[in-house]
Amino acid sequence: MRLLLRLLGGIWLATLVVIAGFTYLEVQEERARLVQDIGRRAALAADAVREATEPLVARQSRAGYDRVLKRFGRPDRSIAIYDQFGSVIEASPEVKPALGPLSPLVSEAMSNRGPARGFQDVGGARRWVHVVPLERDDLIIGAVAILLDAQYLESYEWGLWQRSAVRLGVLILLLTGITWLLVRWTVTRPIARMAEWTKQLKAGQPVAPPPDADASLFGSLAGEVTGLARTLARARAVAEQEARLRLHGESVWTEERLKQFVQIRFGARPIFVVSNREPVSHVRDGKTIKELQPASGLVTALEPIVLACGGVWVAHGSGDADRVVGERIGLPSDDPTYTLRRVWLDAEEEAGYYYGFANEGLWPLCHIVHERPRFRAGDWEQYRAVNHKFALTLLEEMEKADDPIVLVQDYHFALLPQMIKRERPDARVALFWHIPWPNFEAFGICPWQEEILLGMLGADLVGFHTQFHCNNFLETVERTIEGRVEWDHFTVVRGQHTTHVLPFPISVATDAVEEPERVDKAAVMAQVEVSAEFLGVGVERIDYTKGLPERLRAIRRFFERWPQYRRRVVFVQIASPSRTRIPRYQALQEETRAMVRAINEEIGERGWRPVVYRERHHDHREIRAFYRAADFCMVTALHDGMNLVAKEFIAARDDDDGVLILSRFTGASRELGDALLVNPYDIEDTADAIRRAIEMSQRERRDRMARMRAQVREQNIYRWAGRLLSELARIPRTALADRQGTTEDRLV
Ligand code: F6P
Repeated sequence: MRLLLRLLGGIWLATLVVIAGFTYLEVQEERARLVQDIGRRAALAADAVREATEPLVARQSRAGYDRVLKRFGRPDRSIAIYDQFGSVIEASPEVKPALGPLSPLVSEAMSNRGPARGFQDVGGARRWVHVVPLERDDLIIGAVAILLDAQYLESYEWGLWQRSAVRLGVLILLLTGITWLLVRWTVTRPIARMAEWTKQLKAGQPVAPPPDADASLFGSLAGEVTGLARTLARARAVAEQEARLRLHGESVWTEERLKQFVQIRFGARPIFVVSNREPVSHVRDGKTIKELQPASGLVTALEPIVLACGGVWVAHGSGDADRVVGERIGLPSDDPTYTLRRVWLDAEEEAGYYYGFANEGLWPLCHIVHERPRFRAGDWEQYRAVNHKFALTLLEEMEKADDPIVLVQDYHFALLPQMIKRERPDARVALFWHIPWPNFEAFGICPWQEEILLGMLGADLVGFHTQFHCNNFLETVERTIEGRVEWDHFTVVRGQHTTHVLPFPISVATDAVEEPERVDKAAVMAQVEVSAEFLGVGVERIDYTKGLPERLRAIRRFFERWPQYRRRVVFVQIASPSRTRIPRYQALQEETRAMVRAINEEIGERGWRPVVYRERHHDHREIRAFYRAADFCMVTALHDGMNLVAKEFIAARDDDDGVLILSRFTGASRELGDALLVNPYDIEDTADAIRRAIEMSQRERRDRMARMRAQVREQNIYRWAGRLLSELARIPRTALADRQGTTEDRLV
């Protein structure tokens, strides 16, 4: 209320000052105009009277004076005639008795031989007086005065002030009403709701923030409160989960346990994560900038770790608004727990390092999908240069950290471990390779195989998803470079340095930190404008390793073999565009779209489309709704290191329902034996798996899902990080080497 009064007081004062100021100016202008007008009228009348009176004064014709007064006199115009001594000879009767005050003007006119004028109060009324001298033969023989009624000037000015006062009143009423409504709708009510919301949160009720907690109005306050509420909800959920686990005597890794583990093992030593893909990119959306979580299994897996342990994440700043937001930012933006340090790459670097060597060379080299790798010397140069650039940034970030822990991610940074270790031998460096490792013959086609292996072996620990990939790697090392491979310890010894090579099957976070939302299958289908009895879902980046065409062929085959399921089953494919500058990816995009079109045209019927294809970026919340509503999820990659979509689907199914159809060529298939395992190249086999998924009894579905959920929950991402970090911690601390020369020299 006080705020409203203060606001209104200010508005009233401002309105008053503005209206009064403008009225004053208007009155001044009007007055000048009216005075000019009355003066002009008086001067004209005075000239006429002078002409008529001059001969009369010379003749001293009293009868003539009466005629002049009658002829030129009016109710608002009086006339006075003076002799050469300034005495009144004759005057209009209404002013005659009161002409005394005019003598100074009369004397002035006669002595100056010119007109004299001004306002005078004559006979109890305000008048404009204009006096002109009368002359004959160059002698002053008298004067005439014209007196015009000027009362109306004052009433006119008064009228102006009155009108302004009314205007002021109306304006104040209007502004008061509008301000009151605005304050109530946009400030008082939302604040009251936010207060109510925070009260409910404090009481432990997980309610969504009020929709009118408008960040643009409340600025950072709304963001801060939202962040605080989220932190509170997380902390409460974590505490509840811990208590539950303690009660059941379970030893599942949780965010809290990982945090404590890192504190005990590493104390204040910070963790540095390096990856190509950044956890959050900032992109322009019209005139605003929004945060986007990329479609990346790596990000899904790594983010919970930095959220739990803090640290610095070094990554390529690839969003088109990243530079506007900043090079070094705290994340999550509403409640920062770790730092993102962005590395900027120019178009040439990105083309050679990311699109070229990493994704047209190493990616097909490591995946057995019959896509020929392309190795170009220029790309290799950029790959080295960008690894070098990331190394410099990382070293800068680690400058003040003793014994830092460095977690390098993926095939984009094969050279980075060696570069870092050379400069900072005190750092414990792990390299995790998120994609498969091929057999040594396949790897042998890479022209820079030795450099890549030596770069990787700079790490203290190299991790793969499966033992099979570790074995492939060790065999490649054994056959390619000099060094001792100790198969019983899974290590590579080169000179003083030992690299441990171990499997760490990556996973997802499974804690239910937020209240699971209810899912209505019909509503989820309605979002994509379909309705059916059964819903299948697939979630992929558009990548040739994911087996999209093979999957679509299997879906078509399913409807051909079991036509009774037409109109009853819909498959929704969520497809995130990826690496779209590479021609092979463009071709796949085209091929997939064309296949979807063809299936829908050939098999679809009026009011039913067998396949819904959603080709755009989807955020986690949207994807989760599809996972939770689906009767079956298809993860049929042709070759995949792990494939976290399979685990995300399972983690989302807290109803213990849904069937997973999983390619046996994914790392995930080693752990998820309760999925329907398929060979994605075998179209008949995959089509049959769809039928089995739909016809599976609820009991079997639940049993399978419960077992898979137990597996994913047990082998979650916190356990993955805990295992990887304890392996790193076990490695003896290398004494700081004598470093010579500049960092730049040594890194080249
Ligand atoms: O699978 C390898 C990988 O780097 C993942 O870690 C990640 O999910 C995916 O590729 C993303 O690819 P990109 O970053 O090129 O979009």
